[in-house]
Amino acid sequence: MKLTVNLPQSAYDIHIGSGLLQKAGELLNLNRKVLIVTDEGVPPEYAAQVAAAAKTPTLVTIPQGEGSKQLPTYEKLLLTMLEAGFGRGDCVVAVGGGVVGDLAGFVAASFMRGVDFYNLPTTLLSQVDSSVGGKTAINLGHIKNIVGAFWQPKKVLIDTDTLKTLPPRQIASGMAEVIKMSLTSDAELFSMMEAGEEDYATLIARALQIKISVVEQDERESGLRKILNFGHTIGHGIESVGDGDFYHGECVAMGMLPMCGESVRARLLPVLTRWNLPTGCQMDANAVYAAMLHDKKAQSGKVTVVKVPTPGSFTLETVEPETLLPGIKELTGN
Ligand SMILES: NC(=O)c1ccc[n+]([C@@H]2O[C@H](COP(=O)([O-])OP(=O)(O)OC[C@H]3O[C@@H](n4cnc5c(N)ncnc54)[C@H](O)[C@@H]3O)[C@@H](O)[C@H]2O)c1
Repeated sequence: MKLTVNLPQSAYDIHIGSGLLQKAGELLNLNRKVLIVTDEGVPPEYAAQVAAAAKTPTLVTIPQGEGSKQLPTYEKLLLTMLEAGFGRGDCVVAVGGGVVGDLAGFVAASFMRGVDFYNLPTTLLSQVDSSVGGKTAINLGHIKNIVGAFWQPKKVLIDTDTLKTLPPRQIASGMAEVIKMSLTSDAELFSMMEAGEEDYATLIARALQIKISVVEQDERESGLRKILNFGHTIGHGIESVGDGDFYHGECVAMGMLPMCGESVRARLLPVLTRWNLPTGCQMDANAVYAAMLHDKKAQSGKVTVVKVPTPGSFTLETVEPETLLPGIKELTGN
């Protein structure tokens, strides 16, 4: 299956299916110097398949986890390219989840002011979300994604076979983003999930169609792209108080609940439970609230949140933050 992202400056294809890593040599232009970036948690055979298809590969395996999205790893990758004599016509390939994709994408965006970038996402979250849209970044200090660039990939290959090795909790975390996109933008997809649709290629393609349509209309996140933040305002508060206890998608799952109308919430709860996603947490509601206020999306004392009155529709509301406290208390039970 193939989807296309059409942007004013660039258009690129996303291939979705089984066995695509084996076809990397056919689908990508690897007849040049190729920096392949992966991490220690990704089964090594995935990046090895790409390396085998490249004319002059340089494979770098970074430590897994968010800690790699920092300046030292970024610098190491750039130095590797410099020392290996990479030029403007060469390319960078990411083989991994969102950490590898965001970091390698930013390396591609900035080396010699930009070289070709291919993204081969191997987590469900990166397949349905971060690999498409062109946002690349690293963290600085304690601030996530604060240094980066919009840099669109030349192609994205989503090999659904890679999900076979992904731990179930990571699958669930990615599925939260699919549920999120269906709720704001695709009532039929939400109904499919309620009915138990589990085919990854189908779910990924439907979710990506939403993301593509949003990105095509709002490449630089000036308006519509904000809907992708549905569930993220309170979710970020939970994520920072939890300090690693919950995965990102798990926080989004919880963060969506207070933002839904009553009937939507009643339908969302069983879908979250089906995918083993949490619907509440034992945390201090005031701590979650305080952490949420630190979020960079809080502007001039107010926060803009996405609400879902019925599946497949949304409203953007700028509200006083205090109005979100009762919803947080419902999640934390205190
Ligand atoms: N650019 C964007 O638009 C965007 C959007 C959302 C999230 N993000 C970023 O994405 C990152 C999170 O991405 P993630 O959830 O993919 O996490 P991740 O990249 O840390 O991957 C999660 C874990 O899964 C392992 N892994 C990856 N593929 C595997 C596979 N096929 N089998 C077994 N293990 C595998 C990794 O080694 C890692 O330990 C965050 O840094 C976040 O900021 C970016």
